[in-house]
Amino acid sequence: MSFKGEHILSVSQFDRDTIQHVFQIARNMQPYASRQKRTKVLEGAILGNLFFEPSTRTRVSFGCAFNLLGGEVRETTGMESSALSKGESLFDTARVISSYSDVIAMRHPQAGSVAEFALGSRVPVLNGGDGANEHPTQALLDLFTIERELASSGQSIDGMHIAMVGDLKFGRTVHSLSKLLKLYKNLRFTLISPKELAMPDDIVSAIENAGHQVNVTDVLEGNLNADIVYQTRIQEERFPSKTEANLYRGKFRLNQEIYTRYCKSNTVIMHPLPRDSRIEANELDNDLNLNPNLAIFRQADNGILVRMALFALTLGVEGIITNYECAVPWYSNKHSG
Ligand code: NCD
Repeated sequence: MSFKGEHILSVSQFDRDTIQHVFQIARNMQPYASRQKRTKVLEGAILGNLFFEPSTRTRVSFGCAFNLLGGEVRETTGMESSALSKGESLFDTARVISSYSDVIAMRHPQAGSVAEFALGSRVPVLNGGDGANEHPTQALLDLFTIERELASSGQSIDGMHIAMVGDLKFGRTVHSLSKLLKLYKNLRFTLISPKELAMPDDIVSAIENAGHQVNVTDVLEGNLNADIVYQTRIQEERFPSKTEANLYRGKFRLNQEIYTRYCKSNTVIMHPLPRDSRIEANELDNDLNLNPNLAIFRQADNGILVRMALFALTLGVEGIITNYECAVPWYSNKHSG
């Protein structure tokens, strides 16, 4: 089981064994992420971090994950500041940037673009989101979070009930996560969205064909009695106009009152973030911030561990990380959290 030299483009590259392997490596990264120790295993290595679409968490956590392994990061953000806006092909950009880097993380608004880019790359390419298609590293960190959160109440992923809420049509995170979850057994999916923003049929069929139970609905109330509620943002950037996106914003809000009324007492609340906190959307209210089952920030923290694991695996250093350990000389209060 080796990812050395491989691109990570789609969740379809993973099965349950490889997922557990990635998660084991991710757990090993905890002491470095919490600054108990450092490792310089990737000292001298360069990450090309190419983000041609807005991003905070994914971009910064790819960069920090690489830094935490001792590597350096070169970043390009925005289409307008890259030669793609001068008509350069993805192939040419990949050919050049891969000469400058040891590994590349990339996000782009077009479905299939990262795979196309990877054809021109001589180093591993990690898909940081290609349009509404896939977001494999997010799906892995979401699954890692689900496994951890459920384990804390003695549950496992097999047999669980997940409710996915919001923009299931354009949300690449729910697409990739659903494809990973279908590898597990006897799941119940409740897919809650406006009819126009329903989960694509091919994904629903794939889940059903893998033996899971699927309930598709456009009603939030009464359908949140799940182990996990995975809330999403209306992906306004994928709509023909803001006016059209506005038709759906604010339709499926989760707040403490709704949680108390319709969720289980230990329902875990997830969201890939960013949550749209503008008043007209507010799909995940701030009044949930003190709810101990709100896992959104633990989920974002887990992104560092999973992305560190993916870099270690694709660069083939997962077995020698401890050989390059050193102490952390500065003050840090992260050890406990
Ligand atoms: C998501 C994305 O970009 O697909 N964010 C992320 O990567 N954490 C979800 C979103 O933007 O709504």
